[in-house]
Amino acid sequence: MKFSKFGQKFIQPTGISQLMDDLGDALKSDKPVNMLGGGNPAKIEAVNELFLETYQALGEDNSSGETNSSAIISMANYSNPQGDAEFIDALVGFFNRHYDWKLTADNIALTNGSQNAFFYLFNLFGGAFSDDKLDESSQSVDKSILLPLAPEYIGYSDVHIDGQHFAAVLPHIDEVTHDGEAGFFKYRVDFEALENLPALKEGRIGAICCSRPTNPTGNVLTDEEMAHLAEIAKRYEVPLIIDNAYGMPFPNIIYSDVQLSWDDNTILCFSLSKIGLPGVRTGIIVAAPEVIEAVSAMNAVVNLSPTRFGASIATPLVNNDAIKQLSDNEIKPFYQQQAKTAVALLKNELGDYPLSIHKPEGAIFLWLWFKDLPITTLELYERLKEKGTLIVPSKYFFPGVDVDNYKHAHECIRMSIAADEDTLTKGIAVIGEVIRELYDKAK
Ligand SMILES: Cc1ncc(COP(=O)(O)O)c(C=O)c1O
Repeated sequence: MKFSKFGQKFIQPTGISQLMDDLGDALKSDKPVNMLGGGNPAKIEAVNELFLETYQALGEDNSSGETNSSAIISMANYSNPQGDAEFIDALVGFFNRHYDWKLTADNIALTNGSQNAFFYLFNLFGGAFSDDKLDESSQSVDKSILLPLAPEYIGYSDVHIDGQHFAAVLPHIDEVTHDGEAGFFKYRVDFEALENLPALKEGRIGAICCSRPTNPTGNVLTDEEMAHLAEIAKRYEVPLIIDNAYGMPFPNIIYSDVQLSWDDNTILCFSLSKIGLPGVRTGIIVAAPEVIEAVSAMNAVVNLSPTRFGASIATPLVNNDAIKQLSDNEIKPFYQQQAKTAVALLKNELGDYPLSIHKPEGAIFLWLWFKDLPITTLELYERLKEKGTLIVPSKYFFPGVDVDNYKHAHECIRMSIAADEDTLTKGIAVIGEVIRELYDKAK
């Protein structure tokens, strides 16, 4: 069977699709595996209990003896393409209550997960644009999405319908301490390189995008960095897209003391996945009305309307702020403790070796840098896999970067900290054994 170019683009094997297959196969296999590779959130008891209660209440009688019919009836109908109106109203109230952004329902659209939102947004703001200045000519300008700080989220890599459109800026790498200890680093945006990027100066950037906290590194861009990015975005009249999948106010897996800002040049993307509901596929976009209209139009074509299941569960939790309390009191402390445990285990295994850990500031991963490792981390990934431990090698987290000419992109790994303590301990022991052997042999 022959597939179109559009089809070819999606079915061609990519490194990451092979990797994801590996992860899936490992979970199905009967061999024990230390899964430090995926992006699934942890199973946290208090969180699951609240979701189950809320889910059950959808079908229960309310205090006046009537079935809680509104949630059931809402799921029996398509929403309009913008998404479930009751949930959107709840979100408007929630964000205005906590941030005073003065939103209306025209500022919010729902998507089937935030991955779906990035597919829309990167194709809305990246790709071929007709050039207003080139009157009457049929010429077009190809615009890219600017990632101000590589490494970035692996899932951005292949979402463009037409080609690959990323421009990325390599980071400054600062040695830092964490909880008074050495052996950590932090990425910072190289604003000089960014401001001098030819694509930016020549009008070939359609939007700027960053995840905050960042998947894979756990980096949290500072408020100063964010303000500077917002200023550049305004100056070049492009939106600033902030991927808040791990950020505040939910799931709030963020440990540094920073603020969340929004204005109508900012597109904020939220998700219900990392609070523990990846299966309900619910993404939330907060943006100017013209962006919301465009997203709604895309929803209509691609999905008719976005799923209402996550919206039904989350509406009461947003209305009574339980989603925020859950994030502050259960989800954030859980991952903060997991990060502490994983760092202690790593230091114990590899304290005397050239391991540097990105300062854990949020998200559900640690990013480990093995300086001058004698093999690439893609090869390391294979060796660890043979020993039953799965991580993700760094090579895939650099969309827009020529990784063949960037050594650092082959010296890091991402490990999830969502696993239980036993898996973390065993997985880190395997990483320790393999890494020690590699460095010892190279001496
Ligand atoms: C930074 C980031 N953005 C977006 C997503 C997509 O999440 P979802 O489509 O489940 O909302 C993920 C998932 O891992 C992520 O890590």
